[in-house]
Amino acid sequence: MSKTLADKTALVTGGSRGIGRAIAERLAAEGATVAITYNQSRAGAEETVAAIEKAGGSAFALQADLVDAAVIPGLFEQLDREFADRKGSRALDILVNNAGNSGWGGLADATPDSWNTMFAVHARAPFFIVQAALSRLAEGGRIINVSSGAGIRPLPVVPIYSMAKAAINNLTHALAMELGPRRITVNAVAPGWIRTDMNAAVRENAEMVKAIEADTALGRFGEPSEIAAVVAFLASDEGRWITAQVIEASGGFKL
Ligand SMILES: NC(=O)c1ccc[n+]([C@@H]2O[C@H](COP(=O)([O-])OP(=O)(O)OC[C@H]3O[C@@H](n4cnc5c(N)ncnc54)[C@H](OP(=O)(O)O)[C@@H]3O)[C@@H](O)[C@H]2O)c1
Repeated sequence: MSKTLADKTALVTGGSRGIGRAIAERLAAEGATVAITYNQSRAGAEETVAAIEKAGGSAFALQADLVDAAVIPGLFEQLDREFADRKGSRALDILVNNAGNSGWGGLADATPDSWNTMFAVHARAPFFIVQAALSRLAEGGRIINVSSGAGIRPLPVVPIYSMAKAAINNLTHALAMELGPRRITVNAVAPGWIRTDMNAAVRENAEMVKAIEADTALGRFGEPSEIAAVVAFLASDEGRWITAQVIEASGGFKL
């Protein structure tokens, strides 16, 4: 059987760990040539690329600290060169805005700087990445934003994070309308609790784990591959009629 994403190109931000790594591996397994970005985890990015190549796929890694939107044009110039070398064109088929900083921060301890950093990575960077991608995105392409259930049901302990995820949900809707004439679909996938570094500290607290599992219909934390499966579906031809949606993949959290 032919692979669902054969000949496609993909960019996954934050592919050095966690959900982004799982998405990159899955898209590559479906046949896409995958660019990942990383910030601090160079070794993690190299591991992702090595795992993809070992499985017979094609990938490469680019460094970018997405707190700083000024790095985005340079990131895309590097991307152009790599895709041109590998594929003979700079066309981008699938963009996955996944990178996220875990600076949890409550109302009492927030500062203008912590607020800006959270918004810079979760909301401003995806906006300007899409802007830079506009001239590269192929007709019929895909934009998939990794949001969070907190974007719809805010978590009071992380109000800034929740606001930033609400912003990406809103942007998803706007972009779907803007890019529909080019047959580009734009969706968000909103995970619930997924087992990654982002919530390692939470998972050390037995009481919290019990409460989260009790609040989840399927009774457990999810795995990064379970988010990657949803992204792969949206990226595939089978997902072509879905746009402007925020698709929650949470095992039924807080129903
Ligand atoms: N895990 C969950 O339960 C959960 C739930 C809902 C939504 N999400 C969302 O899923 C996405 C991925 O989260 P995760 O759980 O996989 O987190 P993770 O394991 O902590 O990985 C975060 C990724 O984002 C990158 N990143 C962080 N800050 C960055 C920056 N300033 N510039 C560029 N890249 C940066 C990291 O790169 P480096 O390591 O290279 O610095 C890493 O690749 C995030 O958008 C998060 O909000 C996660």
